Amino acid sequence: MKVLVVGGGGREHAVCWALSKSSNVSRIYAAPGNGGISDIAQCVPINPMNFEELIAFAKNVGIDITICPMDAPLVAGIVDAFQEAGLLIFGPNKHAAQIEGSKSFAKDFMKKYNVPTAKYGVFDDYEAAMVHLMKSDFPIVIKADGLAAGKGVLICANLESAEHALDSILNKRAFGAAGKTVVIEEYLHGVECSMLCFCDGENILPMTSAKDHKAAFDRDYGPNTGGMGVISPNPEYTREVSVRAMEEIFKPTMEGFKQEGIDFVGVLFVGLMLTEDGPKVIEYNCRLGDPETQAVLMRLETDFLDCMLACVHKKLDNFNLKWKNSAVCCVVAASKGYPGEPKTGFEIYGMRDFGRDVKIFHAGTKKDGNTFFTNGGRVLNVVGSGKDLEEARETAYKAINSIDFMGMHYRKDIGDLTDLDTFAEHLLSVINKKRLADSVK
Ligand code: AMP
Ligand code: GLY
Repeated sequence: MKVLVVGGGGREHAVCWALSKSSNVSRIYAAPGNGGISDIAQCVPINPMNFEELIAFAKNVGIDITICPMDAPLVAGIVDAFQEAGLLIFGPNKHAAQIEGSKSFAKDFMKKYNVPTAKYGVFDDYEAAMVHLMKSDFPIVIKADGLAAGKGVLICANLESAEHALDSILNKRAFGAAGKTVVIEEYLHGVECSMLCFCDGENILPMTSAKDHKAAFDRDYGPNTGGMGVISPNPEYTREVSVRAMEEIFKPTMEGFKQEGIDFVGVLFVGLMLTEDGPKVIEYNCRLGDPETQAVLMRLETDFLDCMLACVHKKLDNFNLKWKNSAVCCVVAASKGYPGEPKTGFEIYGMRDFGRDVKIFHAGTKKDGNTFFTNGGRVLNVVGSGKDLEEARETAYKAINSIDFMGMHYRKDIGDLTDLDTFAEHLLSVINKKRLADSVK
């Protein structure tokens, strides 16, 4: 089969790599792809938001199935556009993608179907929101309702900072139209866990667990990023937690989708907080996570194309996923300036074949001849695999230590889980300060 992958980040490189191992995949195209992807797929320079051009290309070369792991095209209706053109595509349609596109929609949905989540209120009126805040406990979380490039969540330690956050979002429109409405919710204490789940509209099949590291610097200092590294499995996601998550979260979520007439086909990303009272949903995303995908797919033994086909043909009920009995650790090498304005265009040194326990998924790279250059904020995802987390970390760090480019930075503590709770508490004040500072700029 010929497959088209829409996107050009580390997540899409991992998807292309997983597909390249399938004996039923004859050719992979990526739009637009990147330097690393070009080694295993044909990159075509089409913007992921240009559905017309993507469809024309897919028809032209006879693509059998397309996968879009990016949120913006999904929320804008890429799946509906492909389906209307008679093309097979893996991902949720526009209606189903609302679960990520609107936080208030997701919260109302969880409330209706008894999915455990933080207590909340939805406001578009500043005065009413202030009255609510004055009656609330702190810390508290204020979220712009719409997509805000991962920046629309402000964690506020006290009434003063909450008032400031509210004014920035609702009155000053710090996040543009995404902040026309806000969700104000209770702060959850615990350890975060990312769960990616295959869905076929009827059934939900969780993949293995992962833990993202979102802050830019070690010990969770610095601003939040798209993700500086991830481990899988998440040691806190025990068998007992997984049983509860299945019964209390995944099944009711899929049941709710059906009741609401939401045909969710694709990957549902469930961001969990593992609290003392059990797992609770922080957010739903309508797509594969980045960098979670880079770690999780490294451990997947089942053919990824078969997983996609089982979803689109509604055959997940008898489908089983096989996982390697290993641990992986993915460390992101980022450019100077990231997550702000990155400095790019530098040659990348030291990349070589590090053996079968290491995979390097490119995020922002460009290839010129045989040389790779930096071309984005997050540049490389170095994934190490081992019999346990310790070995996986050692393998990943040994590889990344021999790679270099001008201004490269990476966290040295991915997968170091000591004092997790203390870090979470610390993160609160860090995110708070940084995001409030950003929102008044
Ligand atoms: P994002 O939506 O990716 O910008 O995520 C914001 C981050 O804020 C999440 O990864 C959590 O760490 C944190 N967060 C969001 N909602 C809550 C909540 N209700 N309680 C505690 N932390 C939260
Ligand atoms: N790594 C978090 C996300 O993909 O949303």
